[in-house]
Parts: sequence; structure tokens; C-alpha cells
Amino acid sequence: MFTKIAVIGGSGVYDIDGLENAEWVSVDSPFGTPSDQILTGRLGGVDMAFLPRHGRGHVHSPSTVPYRANIDALKRLGVTDVISVSACGSFREEMAPGDFVIVDQFIDRTFAREKSFFGTGLVAHVSVAHPTCPRLSKACLEAATAEGITVHDGGTYLAMEGPQFSSMAESKMYRDAWGCDVIGMTNMPEAKLAREAELCYASVAMITDYDSWHPEHGAVDIGDIIATLTGNADKARALVARLPALLGAERAPCPHGCDRALDYAILTAPE
Ligand code: ADE
Repeated sequence: MFTKIAVIGGSGVYDIDGLENAEWVSVDSPFGTPSDQILTGRLGGVDMAFLPRHGRGHVHSPSTVPYRANIDALKRLGVTDVISVSACGSFREEMAPGDFVIVDQFIDRTFAREKSFFGTGLVAHVSVAHPTCPRLSKACLEAATAEGITVHDGGTYLAMEGPQFSSMAESKMYRDAWGCDVIGMTNMPEAKLAREAELCYASVAMITDYDSWHPEHGAVDIGDIIATLTGNADKARALVARLPALLGAERAPCPHGCDRALDYAILTAPE
């Protein structure tokens, strides 16, 4: 089996560097139209796909990103591994703007999004106890380290609906009572859908700000976020360029079973 790596690029990341035979392709999905066309090509001998989560020109807000169409389109393209790259705020003094976090847990507070491929007629309950793939996350950690990026191995990501940022009270609750490390608006339900689609998923969260809890930073400001994002986006592209060598063109079954998540998950009786 061959590796096909997809990168879902968040705010500030609208393409990837160095693709051979690069081509933007349209992929139809019964779950709707994906955020944009998908950039396909090869990098270091490995098939790649890139999807700008918000679309080129940033036209989808976190609530209107067509998460199901995006994951379904990547699956239809034959993708095996999905790397999410996204901006986030930090709840920890030691996790500073400019740092990256390889997220390994989520608290999902989103409420206005389609969260499953399953429902009436075909019922399935997959496990998301460990929502990211340790093998893929390790490759992202190694790539970031090799690039000299300050990267934190593991962290809990609070997924909020947005589009407004959090109040100070919410921010303090997520940090102190709920033990979250970072906050963003897009990794859920994306990670859950990737698991339902039996895709390995890793999340590279790029810190742009200290959210609203920090006594010296007060409010989140989109101007500051954009300034940090520009530098983060270059680092993210360098990280992605290292992934083909780390993951390799040939692929064994996922040692953590991400690619077999539905084996014992479907309850509906076969016809
Ligand atoms: N994305 C970047 N910074 C964020 C924050 N503080 N809250 C939610 N999403 C974000």
C-alpha cells in the first residue's frame, strides 16, 4: 500500500512548496462541495494532496467549512494520512506565540456543524478516545524539531464554535478548570470525521496568541494573529516538506488501527 499525505492548511497556509506535477483538481462529494479544489502532486517520491481549509481567499468561516465534504473528498483521492495545520490560541505561559503544538486530545465545544458521516439508515459509533494518530504525530514532531521549531509534544485543544473569540471568563475556565492547553475553531469535527473515514490524522497547531486569560495580553487581536501567522506559515511549509522522507512511500497498516476504525463500529445490520 502506498502513502498519500494530505495537508489541510488553516489560516495563512493556502499552498505547499515544491510539489512536482502540481495540479488543482475538483473532487465531487455526496456530502457537498469541498472548501476548494485540491492541489495534488508529488513531493520526495510521495503522493501529496493539499486542501486550503478556508478556501483560497479565505471564504469559509470555521462554522461554514464543509468538513464532511473535505474529508470525503480526500478519502476519494486515496489519501491515507491527514495532517491538519491550523492557528490556535494558547492557555499556557510556556506555550508562546510562534510555538507549535502536536495536539493529542480535544474537547469539542462546537455545536453548529455536521459531525458524522453516519445517521439514519447506517449507524456507527467509532472510538475517538485517542483522536490523533501517534505514528503520524511523531513524524510531525520530528519534522518540526528538525526545522528548529519550538514544538510541544502533546496538548489538549479546545474546539470552539466561534467566530468570536472567547470571553475572559470562558478562557479562564478552559485553562484552569478544564485543563486545556490551546484553543482553536477548526479541528472539530474534522478529527472525528477523519477517524470515521479510517484516515490517520495529526494536528499541528500553530500558536498565534495567548487568548483572553493572560493578564498582560488582554484581548485577542486579529492584527497580532496575522503578524504571527505569516512567520508560522513559512515554518509549517518547511515542516510539511520533511514529511515524505519521514513517512516513506510505502505504508504498512496503521499500528494504532486508525485505518480499521470501522471494523467493530457499525451497528446497523447488513441487508
Ligand atoms: N485561532 C487563533 N487564535 C485563536 C484563539 N485565541 N481562539 C480561537 N481560535 C483561535
